[in-house]
Amino acid sequence: MGDLSLHQSIANTILANKTTLFLLANSVKLNFLAISQPIHFPTIEMQTNKKFIQTEFSFGDEQFSIKDWGNLKDVDKSLHEKKFLDILKKHSFETRLIPIPLKGRYTKGRKWAEIEFEACFQAWQEGKSLTLIAATLNRNPQDMIYKLLDRCKEQNLTFTQKGRSISSKNWTSKVKECAQELFEAGLPAWKIAAVFEVDFEHVEKELFVNRKGYGHEKKNPFSINTDHKQYVNELVLNHCDFKITRVLEAFAGEGRFTKILQDIDSVKEIFCIEEDHDTFLKLKSNIKNDQIKMFNNDNLELLSSNILGKFDLIDLDPFVTCHKQIEMVWQHLNDRAYLFVTFGGEYRRSFIKTNRQSIYHRYGFLDNRSDNSEYLEIIPNYFLGFVAKKALENGFIFEVQRAVRYANNCRFWLDVKKREYTKEWELKTIQTDTKGTFFKNLTIPRFKEIRKEIDDARKAGFSR
Ligand SMILES: C[S@@+](CC[C@H](N)C(=O)[O-])C[C@H]1O[C@@H](n2cnc3c(N)ncnc32)[C@H](O)[C@@H]1O
Repeated sequence: MGDLSLHQSIANTILANKTTLFLLANSVKLNFLAISQPIHFPTIEMQTNKKFIQTEFSFGDEQFSIKDWGNLKDVDKSLHEKKFLDILKKHSFETRLIPIPLKGRYTKGRKWAEIEFEACFQAWQEGKSLTLIAATLNRNPQDMIYKLLDRCKEQNLTFTQKGRSISSKNWTSKVKECAQELFEAGLPAWKIAAVFEVDFEHVEKELFVNRKGYGHEKKNPFSINTDHKQYVNELVLNHCDFKITRVLEAFAGEGRFTKILQDIDSVKEIFCIEEDHDTFLKLKSNIKNDQIKMFNNDNLELLSSNILGKFDLIDLDPFVTCHKQIEMVWQHLNDRAYLFVTFGGEYRRSFIKTNRQSIYHRYGFLDNRSDNSEYLEIIPNYFLGFVAKKALENGFIFEVQRAVRYANNCRFWLDVKKREYTKEWELKTIQTDTKGTFFKNLTIPRFKEIRKEIDDARKAGFSR
């Protein structure tokens, strides 16, 4: 108990200095009763006294709690990037309360202090909105959701966002205009949501999914994943042991992969299909090569016609889903070919009850019992199980060259072979259970586990 009073007096000193105890919590892994080592206090932030979250974490049994929008305060103005303040001013929002530092994307993630997550979890249990929690803790709500999913799993609870949204009444056309500019300048959607007190998912949807050219530009917050995808595309092609001559880019986008393909010597013909007209125009301006055939169509139209012929490589790389294309692609594959497939945006929120039904209708996978994180964990196996089933129906087998679980999609690089006899592979590879078709022995690392690959490649000049 002697220790406790020492700690208490240190705590009091810190509080008197109005230091952000969160920093301390982070640096000493705060479990106050358990501290027996000398404490090294953070210095820089102590001197500058800048608060970058809403409150100091308090010691003792007084837990930090997440209150309400009305309790939020302005953070120190010097914590913002000037460009965002300028945009707010330009749109006459300079007096708006800003509860979080306005910093662009790719700021280094902060470690969670235990006490901070407890506050988050408690607020979620109380039904507080995820946007409010994000605004209070200066945390990306998607990160919170993943942590909440884990905690719910530990405690046998079902994670839900139901009742934890806020209205979008603040989303006026004036706000939207300003928000678009902030977003283009690099401010993440959830931070915009925190500034304007609008549900983060509404803002994401408005700014992100509906944005022209979504996913194509470097400004896309998932661009590191996209870079890694291109990196693996190239890697797999460089290690290919058969000749790739004809390629179909069925979801061509603005042509990032096409650019890689046109540099591969063996590739003689590339077919690009892009449905969106504006994106198609960008594709055309990015790829100036007469050898490349470009179609501004829905790929389903072309896949169901007989004008395409057969390919050595087909890439199915949708933003959202390619379940219909997976049914149709086999007749267009040579006896030995690569099939690259993205399990798109439908993956990220597949665990939500209503989405589970859609996944069932698409991939024959139904699981209403698993908790959300379990569901998310196993769904790539069932997605690939579905691909395997379709392969078998068409006399193909495949080997998984690579698979990666990104934050918002999964990607599979498959080496596909036509076979007279497929039973042995089937027995070895898939298993049909009450939920659907499970692909066994799938190695699918999370992106963060292999991120070093792309960091190193970028340092070495990779810029595809
Ligand atoms: C993830 S992007 C593709 C990126 C591209 N593979 C690359 O490497 O740059 C998906 C693209 O597919 C397009 N798309 C979606 N559905 C389509 C369809 N049914 N037919 C053709 N293109 C489609 C979208 O407009 C979007 O540009």
